[in-house]
Amino acid sequence: MACSSSIIFVFIFSFLLSTMAATSYDLLLLGEGVEDLESRAKNLYPEILRDEAVARLQQLGQVSDADGYLERTFLSQASVKAGNLIRQWMEDAGLRTWIDCMGNVRGRVDGRNASAEALIIGSHFDTVVDAGIFDGPLGIISAIAAVKVLNVDGKLGMLRRPIEVIAFSDEEGVRFQSTFLGSAAVAGILPASTLQICDKSGLTVQDVLKENSIDITAENLLRLKYDPESVWGYVEVHIEQGPVLEWVGAPLGVVKGIAGQTRLKVTVRGSQGHAGTVPMSMRRDPMAASAEMIVLLESLCKHPENFLSYDGNCNNSMLESLSTSLVCTVGEISTWPSASNVIPGQVTFTVDLRTINDMGREAVIYELSDRIYQICDRRSVSCTIDRKHDANAVICDSELSSQLKSAAFAAVKRMGAEIQSELPVLMSGAGHDAMAISHLTKVGMLFVRCRGGISHSPAEHVLDDDVWASGLALLAFIETQL
Ligand code: GLV
Ligand code: MN
Ligand code: MN
Repeated sequence: MACSSSIIFVFIFSFLLSTMAATSYDLLLLGEGVEDLESRAKNLYPEILRDEAVARLQQLGQVSDADGYLERTFLSQASVKAGNLIRQWMEDAGLRTWIDCMGNVRGRVDGRNASAEALIIGSHFDTVVDAGIFDGPLGIISAIAAVKVLNVDGKLGMLRRPIEVIAFSDEEGVRFQSTFLGSAAVAGILPASTLQICDKSGLTVQDVLKENSIDITAENLLRLKYDPESVWGYVEVHIEQGPVLEWVGAPLGVVKGIAGQTRLKVTVRGSQGHAGTVPMSMRRDPMAASAEMIVLLESLCKHPENFLSYDGNCNNSMLESLSTSLVCTVGEISTWPSASNVIPGQVTFTVDLRTINDMGREAVIYELSDRIYQICDRRSVSCTIDRKHDANAVICDSELSSQLKSAAFAAVKRMGAEIQSELPVLMSGAGHDAMAISHLTKVGMLFVRCRGGISHSPAEHVLDDDVWASGLALLAFIETQL
């Protein structure tokens, strides 16, 4: 319900706003004299918040484990290199830095009162495979840029609370299929058993930390948990990864909440055999069974109302929020032995399932699992469903969100945009480190417009001026802590 009304709000707002605002500041600034523009730009630190930030995003985007595309997973070689660069940039901004025992890069300034509750600003520097350069790094680089401006202005020591910028080591979960390794450890919700999860090459989380001279044990993992008494709140800037801000013509938006998510791994085992000799009627083919399950998943997630029966556990409001927010994806599939003339013996695929309704998510998983097992029985294959990751939906703190909204609005105004109404408020279908950190403290997020709503793709793009707007908004927000 909350989601559908906010989406409706965004769409109505978009119509009004698109008639008022252009998408480029160059257009918006037309009509001002060159001197006005120069003096405006001078106070807005374009050299730090835009030019240097964009150059750093580009530079980080070149740090990849793969040739020809961007891939940087938890503590890979490229990840370590990227972490070192980020650390240098934090120091350049006047922060005291260290790398913690989950590979998070941390930079802190104490301000006037080292024991006051700290404001944490963060995002992640790991990527998906064949990634864009903004998902994650934009939030880190904008935060460092905003802190650098305060440092250049001699205001860093005047902050009334410590500020800590954290570049989280893992949010995407590509290497270990377990998202938020970095932020969950800081929030104190990462079980010690996670250290024993293996990647595809058989190395555990603990092994790869050890390879990097980080001695992680269950005890020092516990010590990584931030004391909730010593933290004031968490703020994250992130590329929107969707089309709404571009559509409404706004560079920034405020995040109202983040959809909950579950990741499953489904393994289907059948009878491996010769593609030319086993009659169709005698096959136990896990590939065909998986195909049926994947199509079932699509139907269920498109029309949950056709699958979930109305009863005490599944009411109208749940069905309504599922039908507006449920999205399901099979993004990874592998077969054994994977040869064109062999009926596979085993197929494994992932399911990523998201909605803002946590009870609805459980109802969908229950229904999906039941129907998967029915398909397995009918096709005489065996199936296992492993739950690899769960995160409940998160509602952002209303006070923090309204402070972020004012800061973003002020920033956009200062840059000359003729936005007369409020900035949009959006729900996030993507997961963010803020989800893990919400177990530690109140969270607030700002979204930054991206081209075509495209993300998790090399085509991901944010305008240089929107990078500038995000840094300026963070700066305005941090300045409320002076
Ligand atoms: C992170 O990008 C996610 O939502 O999967
Ligand atoms: Mn991502
Ligand atoms: Mn991200």
